[in-house]
Amino acid sequence: MNVLRVTGGTPLFGEVDVPGSKNAALALLSSVVLGSGQTILTNVPDVSDIHIKLRLLEQFGVRFSWHEGTLFIDTDNLEGWEADEERVRPIRTSFYLLGPLLARLGRIKLPAPGGCKIGARPVDLHLKGLQQMGARIELDSGVYMAEVDRFRGANIVLEVPSAGATQHLMSTATLADGVTVITNASIEPEVVTLAEYLIRLGARIEGAGTTTISIMGVNELGGGEFRVPADRLQAGTYLLAGAITRGSVTARGILPEHQAAVGSKLLEAGADVEVGPDWVRVSANKRLDAVKIKTMPYPGFPTDMQQPMTALLATANGTSFVEETIYESRSGHVSQLNRMGGSLDQKGNATLIEGVETLQGAYVEASDLRAGAALVLAGLAAEGETVVGNVHYIDRGYDDLEARLVSLGATIERTSDQESGTVLSG
Ligand code: EPU
Repeated sequence: MNVLRVTGGTPLFGEVDVPGSKNAALALLSSVVLGSGQTILTNVPDVSDIHIKLRLLEQFGVRFSWHEGTLFIDTDNLEGWEADEERVRPIRTSFYLLGPLLARLGRIKLPAPGGCKIGARPVDLHLKGLQQMGARIELDSGVYMAEVDRFRGANIVLEVPSAGATQHLMSTATLADGVTVITNASIEPEVVTLAEYLIRLGARIEGAGTTTISIMGVNELGGGEFRVPADRLQAGTYLLAGAITRGSVTARGILPEHQAAVGSKLLEAGADVEVGPDWVRVSANKRLDAVKIKTMPYPGFPTDMQQPMTALLATANGTSFVEETIYESRSGHVSQLNRMGGSLDQKGNATLIEGVETLQGAYVEASDLRAGAALVLAGLAAEGETVVGNVHYIDRGYDDLEARLVSLGATIERTSDQESGTVLSG
């Protein structure tokens, strides 16, 4: 098992070219099976969730090769209808293949999905929508068995604007008979990216990025080339790294509007935020002030930035209040920040944070992807050395985090726990 050893206390300065978006790329990879022919995806992040997804796709006859961030994908020879549990369980978006594979193959057997343990994360909206479009789905001992003759258009009203359900149902509907309308759709940027990609393959979609999306079904989709946009969550993490270390970091190659919610909270906390056409810079030369955060669907404060932001607020001046409204248990970082000398009190989905002058290096463990990022940020700001265990969570969604942080002046290295002499049971 690897750990990250972070020596804190150095302000970070410089620029980061932000890698492609994990969540956008995962959604594209669920939909790639809708088309036949070759698809080329560029700027694909080299993170473990993508590798897991590709291994699952392989089981359905998808062939691919990968050259420095570009994926060449061939879906001409789809085959099979069952997936191994161990290829499905590690990531939630394995489930988003159900509709697209069903549209192409007519029947499929897919174990229930996994993913980071941050809440119950049901798939009821996905199932209801697919059933409305004509799928017959049964759950037997944790495995979904599904069949369809041909999907048909439907009026689907989502009870909550789920990003995943919107993506899954929108992509499946591209090959349905007739028109599908999704009401109360998610307006997260990754939904818009997916719609742009599907349109490139020949789909007819209107309204992505609004709460009502209409999909006019077509008979087939082809291949095409598409660039995965920059990852707004990796970008936000590097900007917070600048702020928490009282340095100045510029995230490049991004859409600045995606950082609006995080940027406005950083401004409120006393940081400087500058915005260019495709970059955002955050600078802080003093201890930042406490703020109140409430996570909301886009364009509100993103749940995925809640844990990294909490790390920053752990050292802010005054009392901050963080409320998580999307997931029930996205709080594994709280006890670990307290191990580092933080003063955080969690009640249900709310965390009260009495900012401390400095955190102290300690051995801490990531409980999920963004908790891992939060602990690395805390380590960058802390006195002494922080050792972050369970690095595999961070590797799910951060493309070479260490190298990028080192390029900004951080002292951080990956070692095995044996080398570092760390006791993993901590
Ligand atoms: N929900 C339901 N029923 C459903 C689906 C969702 O009740 O059938 C609820 C969820 O329990 C949650 C809310 O709806 O309370 C929102 O979930 P959503 O479906 O929007 O999330 P997701 O598609 O499962 C994606 C990202 C998450 C990110 C959320 C919100 C991927 C692979 N994951 O998840 O990213 O937090 O959207 O933006 O795209 C991460 O990258 O760390 C991560 C967890």
